Amino acid sequence: MERTFLMVKPDGVQRNLIGEIVSRFEKKGFQLVGAKLMQISQELAEQHYGEHKERPFFGELVDFITSGPVFAMVWEGENVIATARQMMGATNPKDAAPATIRGDFAATVGKNIIHGSDSPESAVREIGLFFKEEEVVEYSKLI
Ligand code: CMP
Repeated sequence: MERTFLMVKPDGVQRNLIGEIVSRFEKKGFQLVGAKLMQISQELAEQHYGEHKERPFFGELVDFITSGPVFAMVWEGENVIATARQMMGATNPKDAAPATIRGDFAATVGKNIIHGSDSPESAVREIGLFFKEEEVVEYSKLI
């Protein structure tokens, strides 16, 4: 079964959107198999966003993601990587369709509420960065 890494960013946590966001993925039919409220260190932020290191906004990105608690999650389900990206909406909220998370709740590209893995390779890498193996459960066997 496919897994993805999703994270409510500091702006989403501060705006009390954790419940709303978790609820959307639950209602869609995906399963939450890992979750934690955490403060990202400078080192983890730089690793997570390593591919953007040369971008002019890299410093701003790292400052923002370390500015307050985030809610890190692992979700499981069929095609969850691509479907979660659709549910999140375009990276820049000005292009995000209504009824997507960014379309409904975000206004700027820097503070765009949520991060989601963009490929199976990113999902494996990001889940590994944020979660220890024993922090991800396998309760689908119980259902
Ligand atoms: P995310 O999906 O977390 O991955 C990289 C992030 O970089 C992206 O969401 C945006 O929040 C952020 N980003 C992209 N472009 C810009 C920009 N021009 N200025 C600030 N942040 C940006």
